Amino acid sequence: MHLPPQNTWYKIAETLADINFSSTGLAEVDVYGKIICVGLYHHQIFACTQKCPHAGGLLANGYIDAVGNLVCPLHRYKFNPANGKNTSGEGYCLKTFPIELRNDGLFVNIDPALFTR
Ligand code: FES
Repeated sequence: MHLPPQNTWYKIAETLADINFSSTGLAEVDVYGKIICVGLYHHQIFACTQKCPHAGGLLANGYIDAVGNLVCPLHRYKFNPANGKNTSGEGYCLKTFPIELRNDGLFVNIDPALFTR
């Protein structure tokens, strides 16, 4: 395994086509050993933690509803993937990560401290 670079932007793919999105537009991506969830909805890409803040449901196994909420597969709590707000009202907050598609690849910004958790 390679050590992550010292800055907080990590290249995760050359292009969007390199991400193995499911039919629901979600994928798990390994960022130097840290698994995150990446989603694509109406040409908008987002990134968040692998697990739901409620009880650890694997968000890549969920789906994106008709208005763009990320829906957890376990108890169907909903989150705005842009800011992590719990739109179904249970009071949880999903950790999201900035993600950018650039000319030289797809990059996600993750706090290096998360790699130690
Ligand atoms: S684990 Fe995600 S809603 Fe319960």
